[in-house]
Amino acid sequence: LMRTKIPEGLQKLPGPKPLPIIGNVLELGKNPHLSLTAMSKRYGPVFQIQIGMRPVVVLSGNDVIHQALLKQGEEFAGRPDLYSSRFIRNGKSLAFSTDQVGVWRTRRKLALSALRTFSMVQGKSSEYSCALEEHISKESLYLIERLHKVMKADGCFDPFRHIVVSVANVICGICFDRRYSHDDDELLSLVDLSDEFLKIVGSGNPLDFIPFLRILPNKMMRKFLELNAQLEKFVNKIVIDHYDTFDKDNIRDITDSLINHCEDRKLAESSNVQVSDEKVVGIVNDLFGAGVDTVSTALSWAVVYLVNYPEIQERLQRELSEYLSAEPLFLRAFILEIFRHSSFLPFTIPHCTSNDTSLNGYFIPKDTCVFVNQWQVNHDPELWKDPSCFNPDRFLTVDGTDLNKMEGEKVLVFGLGKRRCLGESIGRAELFLFLAILLQRLKFSGMPGETLDMTPEYGLTMKHKQCLLRVTSQPGF
Ligand code: HEM
Repeated sequence: LMRTKIPEGLQKLPGPKPLPIIGNVLELGKNPHLSLTAMSKRYGPVFQIQIGMRPVVVLSGNDVIHQALLKQGEEFAGRPDLYSSRFIRNGKSLAFSTDQVGVWRTRRKLALSALRTFSMVQGKSSEYSCALEEHISKESLYLIERLHKVMKADGCFDPFRHIVVSVANVICGICFDRRYSHDDDELLSLVDLSDEFLKIVGSGNPLDFIPFLRILPNKMMRKFLELNAQLEKFVNKIVIDHYDTFDKDNIRDITDSLINHCEDRKLAESSNVQVSDEKVVGIVNDLFGAGVDTVSTALSWAVVYLVNYPEIQERLQRELSEYLSAEPLFLRAFILEIFRHSSFLPFTIPHCTSNDTSLNGYFIPKDTCVFVNQWQVNHDPELWKDPSCFNPDRFLTVDGTDLNKMEGEKVLVFGLGKRRCLGESIGRAELFLFLAILLQRLKFSGMPGETLDMTPEYGLTMKHKQCLLRVTSQPGF
């Protein structure tokens, strides 16, 4: 009760009245990004809802989100203690756990530096500028081969299913120095379970907030636990293999470099923040988990948009065939518009306040769970003309000769500030290069007479509904 006392000069947060026990769960509904956007129109850019008995602050609008995540970044950089987070990597995840600031910061620095080193390092062939470019280019070609094979056998294909293996192989190349076949059972069973993972960790899942729901049998939760266990097993096997074959003078990938860091640290004995070896080497598990689903969802959406907007697909193909040496600006604009229009990461991972603080004149106590509504920013009519219209041209200058940088910077999909996505440059590079190579060689279309349902399915990342598509070769390929 003491903690709810509002300091002088500050106001109590506005928001809808909660029902006993369940709070505002009913108003959240099946699409929290839409219901919370509607509420922001009524209550403003900072308001409070209650999920179960727990208050959650919801942030919308460019200004408030910049203020919280950049100007007051330290106070908003924590992660809340959510029920589902306890099971992700047994509570040891870099992205979801409630690690103390020092531990999280050390792990984040290690992850960033390892990612930078192993994507920029020279690849195996001098044909490519770096290892990342080599992995993406080769995986794109394997993917094309695969799609042709499936087309020949079945006459159509499920885009996500094949894209996800190619994207997983890029991360596996950098993290583990290995790739998997498109028929690998272990990898495919991880992919099959990933939908449940995303639904469970999507912002506003009542299970996270209402304890009595956890005693009821829940198929989705069971699959979520199964996926966590399988992912752990999948990565552990690779890590053990790396320990067995570790050679200090031949660091092959990110896993080796993290093992090496632990060895060096034992010799130095000077580090002031204690981070267990398991938490250091376990970073690869986070990179795999965060890097596969996000990029494959984005790419799969891109393909679905190409099919739904054939004139945009043709324009991209013309750009890529005519201006091989110039910067494909329309492709860059198309990717930005995919990010904005689909907003397939509608909220960031939930944040949490590390101190009593205030925002826009409202008091927010320490340890309050905070949702950041990226979808709202990307569809805010104050920021965008015709926000619901899919129009890549909005990101080009009026004469079409350059990207409109100011517009591009308004898109919010990687978060901001201290928790900003640490795979952003890899994600952007993958989307650009995969799409450039696919569009040069393939033409995507839907099944005759069928229209694609573009309604997203809510989760941490929102997917399009499962669908079947077709490809044909572009002239000359
Ligand atoms: C966190 C988006 C690709 C690794 C995040 C967050 C978002 C995001 C919204 C949460 C930010 C927050 O909580 O405020 C995306 C998108 C991607 C992408 C849209 C692709 C298009 C990747 C890739 C990797 C990666 C390729 C790794 C190779 C991570 C990690 C975190 C994170 C480790 C947790 C950071 C932390 O909690 O400190 N990402 N991501 N992401 N991302 Fe990404």
